[in-house]
Amino acid sequence: MKVGVIMGGISSEREVSLNSGDAIVKNLDEKKYEVYPIIINNKMELIDKVKGLDIAFLALHGNFGEDGTVQSILEAVNIPYTGCGVLSSAICMDKDITKRILRDENIETAEWCIVKSIEEVDYCLIEKIGYPVVVKPNRGGSSVATAIINNREAIEGAVKIALEYDKEVMIEKFIKGDEITCSILKGKMLPILAIKPKSSFFDYTSKYADGGAEEYVVELAAELHKKVEKMALACYKLLKCSVYARIDMIVKEGVPYVLEANTLPGMTSNSLIPKSAKAAGISFGELLDIIIDSSIKERR
Ligand SMILES: Nc1ncnc2c1ncn2[C@@H]1O[C@H](COP(=O)(O)OP(=O)(O)O)[C@@H](O)[C@H]1O
Ligand SMILES: [Mg+2]
Repeated sequence: MKVGVIMGGISSEREVSLNSGDAIVKNLDEKKYEVYPIIINNKMELIDKVKGLDIAFLALHGNFGEDGTVQSILEAVNIPYTGCGVLSSAICMDKDITKRILRDENIETAEWCIVKSIEEVDYCLIEKIGYPVVVKPNRGGSSVATAIINNREAIEGAVKIALEYDKEVMIEKFIKGDEITCSILKGKMLPILAIKPKSSFFDYTSKYADGGAEEYVVELAAELHKKVEKMALACYKLLKCSVYARIDMIVKEGVPYVLEANTLPGMTSNSLIPKSAKAAGISFGELLDIIIDSSIKERR
């Protein structure tokens, strides 16, 4: 079976994607697959580069990769690909739409608003949400251009920076609590990981620098575990995810708040999904086998 590992891409997460791609290439079983590393540098070359593949293993993150566009191109040229489908990828890339869907089902998520320019910033509304707030690109990733803002004076600068990465910026209530992440594989939850960043939140450095954060399997109290699992699986279903996804949450005073859903989460051997799978007795190689197998069934 010819497996192309699609990596690189044109988003702000290109470097992260190259690392995910490398790890996937190294961990795919050579006895089972003919593995082709495929680095994408622009949109146009995708179709040529995937020709003849039996499956495209997506190691892309962010725009043109995690947002449904690459998935729809692959649908058009009839190449099966791994992970969530077009609609789910597009929904989950958009934090605002994701949160609207969750709110509609009474799934706890922090209060927020969206602005498209500095002029649109409504300070009264932010006052009502209450400081501190998190300012981030609506369709960002890897915590790029994300900041915790404590006062009105600092909003404008943070919004300007986030606007360099997206047309829409989210201003969201900062939830002070314990960060966790729920990896879901084929509709079942893997062990929950606690994330303890060294800095004030899980920023780019704490995500990718050695020792930037502690990430370990956490045993939540039975009742909280049940609540978190129910929420994570509900998100997966409501957001129409398939094959695998990762739901980020913050737990404050026993209440889990959903931050976002990741449809193509990091895939280096240090990344959260492989770590969570390992804790469930699934090696990185086995995880990749399950993803390929389940994606082929899903795309049929
Ligand atoms: N409302 C919030 N309350 C507390 N921490 C937040 C909030 N929003 C984001 N963060 C912090 O910023 C990180 C990145 O935010 P997230 O919404 O997951 O975007 P992405 O991972 O796509 O960049 C989170 O992992 C968390 O540490
Ligand atoms: Mg996140």
